[in-house]
Amino acid sequence: MRDIFERILENKGPLGKWASVAEGYFVFPKLEGPISNRMKFNGKEVITWSVNDYLGLANQPEVRKADADAAAKYGSAHPMGARMMSGHTDLHEQLERELAEFVEKESAYVLNFGYQGILSTIDTLVSKNDVIVYDVDAHACIIDGVRLHPGKRFTYQHNDIESLEKNLERATKMTEQTGGGILVISEGVFGMRGEQGRLKEIVALKEKFSFRFLVDDAHGFGTLGARGAGAGEEQGIQDDIDVYFATFAKSMASTGAFIAADKEIIDYLKYNMRSQMFAKSLQSVLVEGALKRLDMLRNRPEFKAKLWDNVNALQNGLKERGFDIGTTQSCVTPVYLKGSIPEAMVLVKDLRENYGIFCSIVVYPVVPKGLILLRLIPTASHNMEDVSITLDAFSAIREKLEKGIYKRMSAAITVT
Ligand SMILES: Cc1ncc(COP(=O)(O)O)c(C=O)c1O
Repeated sequence: MRDIFERILENKGPLGKWASVAEGYFVFPKLEGPISNRMKFNGKEVITWSVNDYLGLANQPEVRKADADAAAKYGSAHPMGARMMSGHTDLHEQLERELAEFVEKESAYVLNFGYQGILSTIDTLVSKNDVIVYDVDAHACIIDGVRLHPGKRFTYQHNDIESLEKNLERATKMTEQTGGGILVISEGVFGMRGEQGRLKEIVALKEKFSFRFLVDDAHGFGTLGARGAGAGEEQGIQDDIDVYFATFAKSMASTGAFIAADKEIIDYLKYNMRSQMFAKSLQSVLVEGALKRLDMLRNRPEFKAKLWDNVNALQNGLKERGFDIGTTQSCVTPVYLKGSIPEAMVLVKDLRENYGIFCSIVVYPVVPKGLILLRLIPTASHNMEDVSITLDAFSAIREKLEKGIYKRMSAAITVT
């Protein structure tokens, strides 16, 4: 027998083991001031490239006013209780109608949080006889949803249609025995590397295989498609997405999420989704705030246009300078460099302290060993000066990395 705490304290996990050298700086950093292109970190102004406020709505005066008015009207408690019991309002229904209309589905259901919302959607859609087939690079919330599934699940290689097809063949054989169905899950945009899910090619497989298709469009909603309705709109296959999910935590600059589908499917989910049936409804202050944001997302295309001006300037500038930004097809801008975790730490510290650039740093186990991923999220609140300062800073740090300067500086870093 082994004491649980003893084991935990001995092995803090792949990221936890870095806590003594990373916490407060590389992880759990404190960005201060209003959410914008420039915030304060460690007392100094930095250009922030790590906030998913794609459309720059978080701190728009109109949005702040709508939030403040809603807070004055409802406080932060209203409504109390789960939707099914005592937490249901006209406001929630209005938001659901508007969301459904915007993403061109019959019906929508507002979720109190994105993570457990999609996890629970997956859990609710499938039964033990069904088979889930999902992209191996799926977000943790999808993986956790799949973990709840008592039946079979297969992963396919990231965005690899041949691999998906092979797994659909396996899944089809399996369901011939179990009598169940198949749920395919992809993201609209993969948030680390920025590739769009190959949704169009996936739905084309419906000609050959029978399956339902769930798309997590956290990063696509508001940023992709002519109207900003997401990756399905961008790829012209929104109708073929059976269950569409997006969070309010990115383009909508808030908290909460929604799913949209045929009315009968949403009705089923409403009555069976444990994360919503047994948890407090999204607060009215956030619902009213979401209505305001949705209105701006739909009717103020200038935010998306500015976002894409910034995305294009940053991504083209990086490419022109020879940076490897992978195969992004979205606003998510990864920059891949080669180096160890200690080197990455010194490099990022240099970037923050001496160049005033704050971006996220992603290392093993999220990316393969020896790779450093600096992840930049352009927003509509950035400007060309931010882009040009950042490009110069990246050229400078790459030179230092290649000269081994960070390697020498990182030699002293030890992990406890
Ligand atoms: C792809 C994806 N799905 C779901 C979520 C969860 O959303 P929320 O932050 O609203 O819980 C995220 C958030 O990071 C995400 O990136």
